Amino acid sequence: MPILETTTLSKIYLIAGRPVPVLDDVSLKVERGEFLVVKGESGSGKSTLLSILSGLDRPDRGRVLIGGMDITDLGEDALAPLRNTTFGFVFQSFHLVPSLTARENVMFPAELKGDPQARGKAESLMGRVGLSERLNSFPHQLSGGEKQRCAICRALINDPPIVFADEPTGNLDSVNGAGILELLLELQRERRTTLILVTHSQEIAASADRVITLRDGRIVTGQRS
Ligand SMILES: Nc1ncnc2c1ncn2[C@@H]1O[C@H](COP(=O)(O)OP(=O)(O)OP(=O)(O)O)[C@@H](O)[C@H]1O
Ligand SMILES: [Mg+2]
Repeated sequence: MPILETTTLSKIYLIAGRPVPVLDDVSLKVERGEFLVVKGESGSGKSTLLSILSGLDRPDRGRVLIGGMDITDLGEDALAPLRNTTFGFVFQSFHLVPSLTARENVMFPAELKGDPQARGKAESLMGRVGLSERLNSFPHQLSGGEKQRCAICRALINDPPIVFADEPTGNLDSVNGAGILELLLELQRERRTTLILVTHSQEIAASADRVITLRDGRIVTGQRS
């Protein structure tokens, strides 16, 4: 059974007073452990697709199934723990909590589910990505690359089966960005995590199991027959 499956997803936004299908009939199956790259021009619907797949947003039509479970109509009470344990997120702009230290940011999803090993797990992950000297730093004291490594640790701390990353290197210089993507891929392979990554990097796309391209809300290449 695919870990993630969508059928005929559509999302319509009112743009300048006119309904525009931002996702149009998107059907997608992702296998466990797959590394899927999502490409497409600005405005093609990539972020909207990730938001819907991860239960942050709802489609106007179609279904989203995670491990065979239909999450499309789940209420916030059911979605919140799912987002915390089944999904990890890495965003372009890091989304760290400014009043928490780096370690506290990383620990947060584990503490939310009452994991007594939250601190140890955070420190070990942060060691893996070279942040051992930054445990007590606040986000404003970290470089862009350090913030993103911190965000990756936070996304992985609960060992989620699916990780979504939406242009995680968009705010970094190319050297830093390449390092972050390598790191994400290394951790994905190690943990056999399903990774759904929005990126424009041709090099990274070349190492993906599959690349889909969105155009005007439709998958134009990469759809399995
Ligand atoms: N909340 C919203 N209300 C109205 N329109 C929206 C909303 N969110 C997104 N859109 C529109 O939907 C379209 C797709 O947006 P989306 O953010 O998914 O694109 P994207 O492929 O991620 O682009 P980018 O590469 O620039 O991040 C755009 O035309 C955008 O303006
Ligand atoms: Mg986007």
